[in-house]
Amino acid sequence: METTLILLKPDAVQRGLMGRIISRFEEKGLQIVGCKLMQISPELAARHYEAHKERPFYAGLVRFMTSSPVLALALRGNGAITIARNMMGATFGSKANPGTIRGDFGVSNSFNLIHGSDSPEAAERELTLFFGAGEVLNWNRNSDSWIYDMAGGKPE
Ligand code: RTP
Ligand code: MG
Repeated sequence: METTLILLKPDAVQRGLMGRIISRFEEKGLQIVGCKLMQISPELAARHYEAHKERPFYAGLVRFMTSSPVLALALRGNGAITIARNMMGATFGSKANPGTIRGDFGVSNSFNLIHGSDSPEAAERELTLFFGAGEVLNWNRNSDSWIYDMAGGKPE
């Protein structure tokens, strides 16, 4: 099972879209194993987006991410990283396909509602940035036996 870091960005929180976005992940079958409303510091935003430090949009991105609270989620599932990225859609709201979160809820390129880790390495790094020890819970979800086919001994 993979765990991925999702951030509902300040625009999603301010626009009252948290519940609708979380519902999509729950309906898909991803398990919420961590959830935290956070006002993030410029230092945390900088560490999170350190790969983009030299990019022209970086200063605006850090300003946006620290302008208002974000909701950090840890989502778990078989292939959770790719599943969540596909559900988010393309980076820019103007380009994201209908049916995706960015495609359905926004038109802006910089206010694009949501972040999701893009690789297992990024997920591991980002989860430790946003969640401390004990804040990601390994809890038994009773519906798992209907969400996954476990007949072969692993989730299918
Ligand atoms: P994210 O990291 O937030 O999940 O988004 P992403 O992988 O789809 O896109 P990424 O390339 O990692 O870019 C990070 C965030 O920077 C903003 N951005 N602006 N103006 C621009 O050209 C531009 N490019 C990227 C977006 O807010 C994007 O989510
Ligand atoms: Mg990214």
